[in-house]
Formats: sequence, C-alpha cells, structure tokens
Amino acid sequence: MAFLADALSRVKPSATIAVSQKARELKAKGRDVIGLGAGEPDFDTPDNIKQAAIEAINRGETKYTPISGIPELREAIVRKFKRENNLDYTAAQTIVGTGGKQILFNAFMATLNPGDEVVIPTPYWVSYPEMVALCGGTPVFVATTQENKFKLTPADLDRAITPKTKWFMFNSPSNPSGAAYSHDELKALTDVLVKHPHVWILTDDMYEHLTYGDFKFATPVEVEPTLYDRTLTMNGVSKAYAMTGWRIGYAAGPLNLIKAMDMIQGQQTSGACSIAQWAAVEALNGTQAFIPENKKIFEGRRDLVVSMLNQAKGIECPSPEGAFYVYPSCKGLIGKTAPSGKVIETDEDFVSELLESEGVAVVHGSAFGLGPNFRISYATSEAQLEEACKRIQRFCAACK
Ligand SMILES: Cc1ncc(COP(=O)(O)O)c(C=O)c1O
Repeated sequence: MAFLADALSRVKPSATIAVSQKARELKAKGRDVIGLGAGEPDFDTPDNIKQAAIEAINRGETKYTPISGIPELREAIVRKFKRENNLDYTAAQTIVGTGGKQILFNAFMATLNPGDEVVIPTPYWVSYPEMVALCGGTPVFVATTQENKFKLTPADLDRAITPKTKWFMFNSPSNPSGAAYSHDELKALTDVLVKHPHVWILTDDMYEHLTYGDFKFATPVEVEPTLYDRTLTMNGVSKAYAMTGWRIGYAAGPLNLIKAMDMIQGQQTSGACSIAQWAAVEALNGTQAFIPENKKIFEGRRDLVVSMLNQAKGIECPSPEGAFYVYPSCKGLIGKTAPSGKVIETDEDFVSELLESEGVAVVHGSAFGLGPNFRISYATSEAQLEEACKRIQRFCAACK
C-alpha cells in the first residue's frame, strides 16, 4: 500500500515558488540577483489597516470566529459588492477564507466529482489546474493567443464546453498575462455561458483594483445578471490592499454553495484568523485613497517595462490592461545560442539561461500553460525594473 495519496501524483509544485527559491539560493551564494517572480505588491499594508488589527488584539478579538467569518466582515463584503460591482448579496451568501486560494480550493472541493471538467483559459494562474486535479476534477485548457491579447474568444469557449463541464474558471485581470476583459468582451463570453445552463462560473477578481488608463473593470454577474444563480464571485484583500501575508480572501454566491464551502471549512481551518478579519473590515470599509495612488505607481512601472522589453532583440511584449504582470514572448530567441553556449530550445531554457547569465529571475510561460513566453512581475521598484530590463536587453543581444 502506497503511503502517499494517489491525488499527489496529479499535482506539481508551484513553478513561481520554485523560481523565487532558486533566486534566493543564488543570492545566498553572493550573486547579484533581481527577482521578478513574486506575485505580491512591494508596498506595505496601509497604516489604518495595521492599526485596526492592533486594536482588535487589544480588544481581545483573539478567539475562534464563526466559520464563514465575523458578521462585521461579511457585512463589509456585502457593501463592497454593492458599492463597487452593483451586486446584491446577503451576508449569508458570503464566505471569508484564509486567502483567495482557500476560497477557490473549497469551491472545487465542494463541487467536483471524478470526471467533472473545469474549463481553464491559458495562460492560467498556476494553482487552478492543480487545485482542480487535487479535488478529483479534470482541467480542460483552452488556449488564447498573443495576437488576441491573451483573451479567450467566445467561439473557443463554446467549443471547450461539454456535458461534463462543471465550471468555467475566469480571471480578469489575469495572472500571468495582465489581460483584462472589457464589459463588451466579457458580455461576448457570458452570452456563450447563457447557452449552457449546466456550467457554473468561478470568477477570480483578485486584481479588480489594478487596472490602468481608462480601462473599466467588469465581473460576469454584473455584465449578465442571469448568471447570478450559478456564479461564485471571488475576491480578496491580498493584492489591492498589500495584505498578502494576512491571508484573507472572500466570495459571494448561491447559498447552497456557500453552505457547502462553510461545511468544508468547518472541518478544515474553522475559519480565517480573527485579527486578520478585523484588518480586512478596515480595508473594505476604511479609506480607499491609496488604491489610486498605488495604481499610478504600477501603471508607470508597466509602461517602463513594456517599453524596455520591446527594445530587447527577439522579445515582443504587449501592454496589458491590469494586474502587475507582463507576459512577453521570447519566440525570437528560440533556436539561438546563449552566452553559456547552450542552445535555447524552450522558454524554460530562456529563463534559466537569463538567470545564470544576468541574475534576473522570471517565470517561464510553460508553467502557466502557454509559451514560449515568460512572466515578469513588476511589483518591485522602478530602479530594479530598469536594471533588470537593461540586463534582459544585454542578454538578448548576446544570444546569437
Ligand atoms: C489570480 C490569483 N488568484 C488568487 C490568488 C491568491 O490570493 P491569496 O493570496 O488571497 O490567496 C492569487 C495570488 O497570487 C492570484 O494571482
């Protein structure tokens, strides 16, 4: 009898964490490494939010909370969805989890049976297929193209849906491509979903507040209210409020699904950290002033990175609408010889040669299901980004 569960043979470790680990190892050996792999804002959590947590500790808010979250946070979530997305939910239709990651995991755990399919556009956030596989489901990938700015076409979505499709996994703005769907682009997808009433929609709106220029964020139920009864709208405080370590995510959706997720959570974590929940109440109810300030900084960095990467020989970098990632193609470098003498055959070769040669850590596109590309997180200082892009330009020029 095998000791480890069969389910483990279906999952891979996170490629993004592996890149950060490799960069740390090289740094420890004294190498000058710029890490552009991390998916978290480099800003500190705003003071009003930290203060709310300190006050919660001092008030003695240090006990177990209700499984789905403290009433104050669930009410704040209800208000957030109304205020920002024009969506109506009751507090009972919301749930708080230990990060958005746990919300997604519990939703899959609560609904997937062997053979159930989850349609996932590529490039995808690395955890979607692994979570689906761990929960016994089957990920079904649908490729996007760089020409279409990494956005799924309605026809491709329609083709991917089968009688076994349980969920359509939607993420806009996207990790890793930064692509975000406008209202009209999303409407074209929801029109397809309306035709398939057995398909549920799991929308990961984690990067809602990080969109640039005059782009306006939209979420599926806002665009197509008839999907209300089969959509789980997930969001969190990690990215918008620079709170990755606090581990608070949340969702709203149909009551029967929320109850099932509550049951799982009750046997699993008993609920998210009480202090972090009080911090999240302040994040959602308190001043939102730093969101536009941070957006401005991120937008400046995006423009810098896109412009410098497009000056690198063999790299093509579209300018995405949101998140803090770009997803350039390194197709022009495939087949070339790196300074080490190794021929670059894949995007994985490209990123590993770049790291060895110039000490710049990025993540290969094949880890996100679409290549030859690579992901750069620009959640780091402009000075670091400028230096990293100069090194990438130098590396690409040196590949013959
Ligand atoms: C698209 C996407 N969804 C969900 C998450 C998870 O967020 P959290 O830190 O709240 O678990 C991430 C974090 O990297 C993400 O990029």
